[in-house]
Amino acid sequence: MVTISVIKADTGGFVGHTSVHPDMLGRAEDLLSPQRGSLLIDYRVAHVGDDIALIMTHTRGLESEDIHRLAWDVFQGTTAVAKELNLYGAGQDILADSFSGTVKGLGPGCAEMSFEERASEPVIVFLADKTSPGAWNLPIYRMFADPFTTPGLVIDPKMHDGFVFEVLDLMENRVARFSCPEDMYDLLLFIGAPSRYVVRRVLPRGSEEPACATSTQRLSLIAGRYVGKDDPVMIVRCQSGLPAVGEVLEPFARPMLVTGWMRGSHYGPLMPVSVDDATPSRFDGPPRVVALGFQIAAGKLIGPRDLFADPAFDPARRTALELADTMRSLGPFEPHRLPLDEMEYTTMPEVLKRVEKRFTSV
Ligand code: F6R
Ligand code: MG
Ligand code: MG
Repeated sequence: MVTISVIKADTGGFVGHTSVHPDMLGRAEDLLSPQRGSLLIDYRVAHVGDDIALIMTHTRGLESEDIHRLAWDVFQGTTAVAKELNLYGAGQDILADSFSGTVKGLGPGCAEMSFEERASEPVIVFLADKTSPGAWNLPIYRMFADPFTTPGLVIDPKMHDGFVFEVLDLMENRVARFSCPEDMYDLLLFIGAPSRYVVRRVLPRGSEEPACATSTQRLSLIAGRYVGKDDPVMIVRCQSGLPAVGEVLEPFARPMLVTGWMRGSHYGPLMPVSVDDATPSRFDGPPRVVALGFQIAAGKLIGPRDLFADPAFDPARRTALELADTMRSLGPFEPHRLPLDEMEYTTMPEVLKRVEKRFTSV
């Protein structure tokens, strides 16, 4: 069994919230490299916008205390660099004073999966910035349940039975499973509300080895106030009875609107970009996603290939930028700005308290 753990955090931005400083990535490398061949089989340090992602393979299984502590220590290191350079929001996602066995609930986001490595194991790690975990719902649905995206569901006998979606209710902290195609309409009722229901894992029918795993925490729900968006990550295994690499990427060819962007309080398009373009600056965005492709070989990470660095995604980027203009033209009005229940986790309650007396009964 190999485990792939992707643990990410915003530990400081260069400049503002647009990117990370190369010295932070250097510090992460320095801290992880001694672990290659001991605690870790392999690793890569990546980033999207102001979030650093540690992509690690190992044999310690899910939620390993040693792996999570390593990630925690790396983020302490990158925070220290951010502090030395007075970078913006140094240590932003480090919400706890000390490590307590897992990074979950302490600020960093985490997606992990364990599986028996196949003869050839293509995996895509998606990293997004200026959005939240529900952003994956629609693309996951398209990858694993929509035959217009994934013809393999129709054509490939190994996929024809469909997939099982594990959905997490972020408000009640409980999960439910839905099997597609037969539970498709029930599934859509829930995951069509991505601020509350998020797809946590997708499993091939009859298997407990996931094809897809996401990071699902919403810090604002933990903290009860705005603490930055959760800038989610996702791991997807591909090919040989799972969606092909191109089927997994295809949902991103039609940009969707997601929550996040400026001050985590706006709807905007999720733009698929190359690693070089993963630096959201216009209105602190628009939200963007990178796709890092790996072949895993005895746990080693062969790659990454920068999968959205393909001109075939240029039309998606153009559409996303047109959508960005349309949404921006609304300024502070919904549906560019988030609806009221989402604004609860911003300064909204404070403002409401201040002007409360102006409201009189009619
Ligand atoms: C969004 C984000 C930024 C900040 C914005 C204000 O996730 O991180 O849009 O919310 O730049 O930042 P502060 O309040 O730190 O000045
Ligand atoms: Mg930031
Ligand atoms: Mg971020």
